[in-house]
Amino acid sequence: MNTTVRICNRWDLPLLKGEGGHYRYLDTASQRNAACFLELCNHMEVPAVRSVVEYFGGVGIFSTIVQQLFHPSQHWAFDIDPDCVAQLQTIPGLAATAGDAHGTMGTIEADLVVCDFAVCTLRTVNEWPLIQVTTRRPRYIVVSDTALRRLGLHRALYSRLAGVPVVSLEDYVRVYSKYMWELYGYSVTHVAHHVYSYFLLEPRLSSGAQITKVK
Ligand SMILES: C[S@@+](CC[C@H](N)C(=O)[O-])C[C@H]1O[C@@H](n2cnc3c(N)ncnc32)[C@H](O)[C@@H]1O
Repeated sequence: MNTTVRICNRWDLPLLKGEGGHYRYLDTASQRNAACFLELCNHMEVPAVRSVVEYFGGVGIFSTIVQQLFHPSQHWAFDIDPDCVAQLQTIPGLAATAGDAHGTMGTIEADLVVCDFAVCTLRTVNEWPLIQVTTRRPRYIVVSDTALRRLGLHRALYSRLAGVPVVSLEDYVRVYSKYMWELYGYSVTHVAHHVYSYFLLEPRLSSGAQITKVK
C-alpha cells in the first residue's frame, strides 16, 4: 500500500514503495529537516528563485516545499538511489534523474542549489565538489550539516581544524562561514537546526548568521 507524508503540516506527498536512500530515514529526522529547510526558504526572495537544483533529492520532501513556495520555471533533482529517483519522478514540475553528486554537483546553473548531504561536517565538506557549484555563483545555496549532534564529542577535532576553540554551535557556524568565505566567496547568513543543521549560504560576507532552532 502506498503512503503519504505530511510536510510541515501543510502539504501531502504521496510516496511510492521504496527502501533505499532517504526512505530509510523517513521515520526519524525527516519532519524536522523539512521544518529547517522551510525556515531557510522563508529568508529567500521568492522572485529571485526561478530555477532550483537539488543534488540529493531523496523522496522529494524538499522538492515539494520548493514547488509550493517558489513555483520555479525550472527544477531539477538527482539522487543516487533508484527508489528515490522513481519517487522524485512522480513530482509534478520536477525533472529527476539518477546521478552521483560527485559527478552532478555544479553541472546545472540555478538560482537555488540544495545539497542535503546524508552526512557532512566541516571535516568532510571538501570531499564534495562545492567549487563546481560556487563557480556558477547561485543566489542561494543550502547545505546540511550533521556535526551538531556530536559537537561535544568532537570539539577538539573542530578546534584543531579551525585553529580556534569550537565549543558551541555559534562557534562552529562562525568557523564554517569563514571557511566557506575564504574558499568559495560564500558565507552563512542563516542557520536552522534541530540535532542536524541547515545553512543558508549567500555570495556576500555575513556579519553573523541568524540561528533558529526549529521545533
Ligand atoms: C538527507 S537525504 C535527502 C532528503 C531530501 N532532501 C528529501 O527531501 O527527501 C540524502 C539523500 O542523498 C542520497 N545520496 C547519498 N549519496 C549520494 C550521492 N553520492 N549522490 C547523490 N545522492 C546521494 C541518498 O540516497 C538520500 O536519498
